[in-house]
Amino acid sequence: MKQNVPWWKSGVIYQLYPRSFLDTDGDGTGDLPGITAKLDYLADLGVDGIWLSPINCSPMFDFGYDISDYREIDPVFGRLSDFQHLLDQAHQRGIRVILDLVVNHTSHLHPWFVASRASRDNPKRGWYIWRDGKNKKPPNNWLAAFGGGAWQWDEPTGQYYLHSFLKEQPDLNWRNPEVRQAIAEEMRFWLDMGVDGFRLDVINFFVKDENLRANPFGLGPTPRPYDLQKHIYDRNRPETLDVVRVFRGLTDQYDDRMMVGEVYTPPPGDPKLSATYLGTGEDALHLSFDFSIIYSRYGAGPFMKAASQWMESIPWAGWPCQVLNNHDQPRSLSRYGRPKHAPGRAKILAALLLTLRGTPFIYYGEEIGMVNGRITRRQLVDPLGKKYWPLHKGRDPERTPMQWSNAPSAGFSTGDPWLPVNPDYPLINVEAQQQDPNSLLHFYRNLIALRRKTPALSLGDWQPAAGSNRSVMAYYRSLGADRLLVVLNFDASVAGIDFLATDPARVVFGTHRRKGEIVSAPRLKLAPHEVLILG
Ligand code: NOJ
Repeated sequence: MKQNVPWWKSGVIYQLYPRSFLDTDGDGTGDLPGITAKLDYLADLGVDGIWLSPINCSPMFDFGYDISDYREIDPVFGRLSDFQHLLDQAHQRGIRVILDLVVNHTSHLHPWFVASRASRDNPKRGWYIWRDGKNKKPPNNWLAAFGGGAWQWDEPTGQYYLHSFLKEQPDLNWRNPEVRQAIAEEMRFWLDMGVDGFRLDVINFFVKDENLRANPFGLGPTPRPYDLQKHIYDRNRPETLDVVRVFRGLTDQYDDRMMVGEVYTPPPGDPKLSATYLGTGEDALHLSFDFSIIYSRYGAGPFMKAASQWMESIPWAGWPCQVLNNHDQPRSLSRYGRPKHAPGRAKILAALLLTLRGTPFIYYGEEIGMVNGRITRRQLVDPLGKKYWPLHKGRDPERTPMQWSNAPSAGFSTGDPWLPVNPDYPLINVEAQQQDPNSLLHFYRNLIALRRKTPALSLGDWQPAAGSNRSVMAYYRSLGADRLLVVLNFDASVAGIDFLATDPARVVFGTHRRKGEIVSAPRLKLAPHEVLILG
């Protein structure tokens, strides 16, 4: 049976922020040879795939999310041959490689945009969204996600262009068939090379309203840049799904490839919207991110609610994915604060991520419990931090270098790291945790190994258990005759749960009990932050 299950359904995917993983040439920035050097670490952790945040040529106004050449590797990361070597070595270890495809916009230095802005009659003019102003004002009231207006005046040709993010990230015109064709060719380039899939950046921004109608922001307070109710003409247009369907047709021409989409939504998240990009479950994205768990408060109740809503939104033939951390959000252990509870909470969160139904995405360093770094005003590099400091300190804190050991700079670089290493690295690092069988790293590894040999855990149905309460989240995972009960005590104190006589009773995995032990109904007392899997 396992043979027919695609890897992106049964597997675990690890997101790497390449600048921060491992620097092999001493320039302070992580690189592709650094990733290759750590493939054994990743294989040992048990991951089935890695997603690399953008590695293409970029002037780095948004750290790679502004691409100036889709076919070349930015020199800071290495060369194309380094990538080919990485791909080859990953495949030899059974690890798939997913690239970040950032095509809502390009860099303003991409030759397409350079041509487009050169003259009104340039053949590439229509590849971007250019408009005349209205009474010396922008064409409409659209706002950029990073704040401010979404239109930039361009003196040489006397028109405005649209940018949903920074002005250095002009939006492509997805209504133009030439653009669709060009991006399809860029995708083919990587698929032909053997890349296993793409993470599609802000998939829900691609197609804009044909008539560029004004959003109903109205009068009153300035709308928040992410307010979806108001962003009805510049985001989530139904035509975007058609683009995704074409992408799906293209990837389906290759074996075993996949696409995971980032559906950009403000808190509290919008699982229904995220799920629409899965189409029927077989004709659009393979996976789409829902951020409602990331945005959720910590606790059995809030997580149960978020998980249930996400599961209910998934189309019958579709498949969910799960994520607690990424390069845009404060790390989970920082969000859920309270350092004294961090070790317990870290295992609860790991168990949640790895036992819910859906493909788990682990963000580098999550497996050792990395927390946000402290970045001073002087040290920050993220454009968002620069713009909004001190209200919003930007995304640098969740992007600090991977903590490999207690060597200088945490073993990340022999040079001066591009972002400061978190000073907690002598305590929190891979090497220390490798030596401690009770470490978080071993916990992730053991649970991933259990998933691998227990199809009910990776592929089974998900159903909340009736005994769940304010402290304890419990759910079944079942496949055929196999049925597991996952029990998580989110509290830092002892909590109880009622069992049914028919519930599985043998300990399969846990933090506080021996494997094989039998727990008996009807009521079980759980230790603080206890993780228990019964089968
Ligand atoms: C979403 C990416 O995750 C984020 O890092 C980036 O800044 C924006 N898209 C713009 O590409």
